[in-house]
Amino acid sequence: MNNKRMKVAVITSSDSGYRGEREDLSGALIEELMTENGYEVCKRLLLPDERAILSQAMARIADEGSACLILTTGGTGFSPRDCMPEATMDIVERNVPGIPEAMRAYSMTLTKRAMLSRAAAGIRKQTLIINLPGSPKAVRECLEYILPQLRHGLEIMLGLTGNCAEKQEENA
Ligand code: MTE
Repeated sequence: MNNKRMKVAVITSSDSGYRGEREDLSGALIEELMTENGYEVCKRLLLPDERAILSQAMARIADEGSACLILTTGGTGFSPRDCMPEATMDIVERNVPGIPEAMRAYSMTLTKRAMLSRAAAGIRKQTLIINLPGSPKAVRECLEYILPQLRHGLEIMLGLTGNCAEKQEENA
């Protein structure tokens, strides 16, 4: 399977965006970058910073199998209403610590404020969920860093490949 048939859902967590007070620039940027990289963005949601609403939306997408990847943006900081990592971990079946760790490690080379990211990632059924920070700058930095390895992880999760050794030579 090439990326083309890999469907992505984008969920933005933003009270002000949900109230129509702020444009969802980060959600639009994720859609642009993923489309450029051969994915199909099948759904975009702009939701308030409400844990139950966010987790139900992610669980529904995973359970209906409408996307193999959910990219979220926003709600990963220290603001009192930030709850995207909690909403994510409420509904994933398996934790994926490596991707957020890699994003923070790389981001620390760009800004020491990357240590303030509480982003998480996990798998529910056959859907990988990854939290991205809320700013367009951070979205671009993080997404461009993980994109090259994302496809291999999705292919393994979908049972489309199993041979990590061979792939590692390519990415050494
Ligand atoms: N990661 C990258 N690559 N670039 C950034 O500018 N901003 C940091 C961090 N991670 C940042 C980053 C900051 S300032 C915060 S508060 C946290 O992400 C959480 O961001 P969020 O509240 O927009 O989700």
